[in-house]
Amino acid sequence: MVVQENIRGIRVVKSFVREEHEKTKFNAVSDEIYQNSTKAEKIVAFNSPLMQGTMYLSILAISYIAARLIVSSSMTTGQLMSFITYTSQILMSLMMLSMVIVMLTISKASAQRIEEVLSEQNSLDPNIDGLKTIADGSITFEHVDFSYFNSEEKRCLYDINLHIESGQTVGILGPTGSAKTTLVQLIPRLYDVLSGSVKVGGVDVRRYNLESLREEVAMVLQKNILFSGTIAENLRWGAEHASDEELVQACRIAQADSFIRAMANGYETHIEQDGSNVSGGQKQRLCIARALLKKPKILILDDSTSAVDTKTDAAIRKAMATELKDTTKIIIAQRVASVEDADQIIMLDDGHIQAVGTHQQLLDSCPRYQELYAAQLRKEEQA
Ligand SMILES: Nc1ncnc2c1ncn2[C@@H]1O[C@H](COP(=O)(O)OP(=O)(O)OP(=O)(O)O)[C@@H](O)[C@H]1O
Ligand SMILES: [Mg+2]
Repeated sequence: MVVQENIRGIRVVKSFVREEHEKTKFNAVSDEIYQNSTKAEKIVAFNSPLMQGTMYLSILAISYIAARLIVSSSMTTGQLMSFITYTSQILMSLMMLSMVIVMLTISKASAQRIEEVLSEQNSLDPNIDGLKTIADGSITFEHVDFSYFNSEEKRCLYDINLHIESGQTVGILGPTGSAKTTLVQLIPRLYDVLSGSVKVGGVDVRRYNLESLREEVAMVLQKNILFSGTIAENLRWGAEHASDEELVQACRIAQADSFIRAMANGYETHIEQDGSNVSGGQKQRLCIARALLKKPKILILDDSTSAVDTKTDAAIRKAMATELKDTTKIIIAQRVASVEDADQIIMLDDGHIQAVGTHQQLLDSCPRYQELYAAQLRKEEQA
């Protein structure tokens, strides 16, 4: 665990000059493993000479007694030889048996760990017999309350009511921790609501087959993950059978095509684990393209262009508006400019909906929105 964590987060460790601290942590963990395995090995090592010793002692004893019997001619040398052979065979088998018992104990511990993973129950009911087709990309939230802990006290969302038409573009703004991610996670049913209901295509999400629902709702997560493999392999991750043309088309919309072509091997360029050999903004655009390839009815972008420059950000939104007319697009953003043209903008604050409206409506009626807009305009002018 500690090894994995440190290799993954190597840049963080280095940039925070935490190497010494992490080294100490690593040493402590490896010491513990060392102690435990030497203890086990000691028992195994002790076992072997003990068994061997017993074996040779028994042969010695047999020879001694047999020698006397042969002298008094009540036993032949042939009988002695076969006796020794049988005895050593039995002792060898016993030795093997003790090895098997050691192995069994070790495997039992491993089997227990595997069993723990395999028997982990998913708390969501996948509803295998549920509906498999989704009419359209409309979304409705009706009196939705939500808590990560399934308790009334620790709620994250309070009485959310929303209606989004199929094909609309919706922006979500709100300070960090205001439950933006939490809100959209309920649409592909990553979690179930505490009370109320979330409907997609007019039907409660719990009535759909979970897999079918997630096929139609693509979500680009705030913290993105690319896998080691070529760019094309990564893109096809959501849609195995996508053609090369579809790949290029998705990358054009996500404004990724040009930088991919500029790379030495184009779409066959190898991506390192976690995408450490592409820039943050490039990684985000690849993740958007990957989501687009699924051709979903609902596309959720959770702060997915935060590392992309404003010009490219605008180009992505423009391409999505023209190429994905029937797809419902939900954009969580920090910049007002990213959601300015949306059909509705939702202002979230601490799990409550503060205001909903178009850019103009919010400018006229919502003081928080006016403030945010003015502050960001000023910043842009200074820049
Ligand atoms: N998996 C989780 N388990 C428990 N609490 C969580 C979990 N994820 C988020 N929370 C809590 O829910 C609240 C809302 O978090 P959320 O991630 O939805 O905020 P956000 O608006 O997306 O913030 P940001 O802009 O930083 O992404 C926070 O108080 C957070 O601590
Ligand atoms: Mg978030």
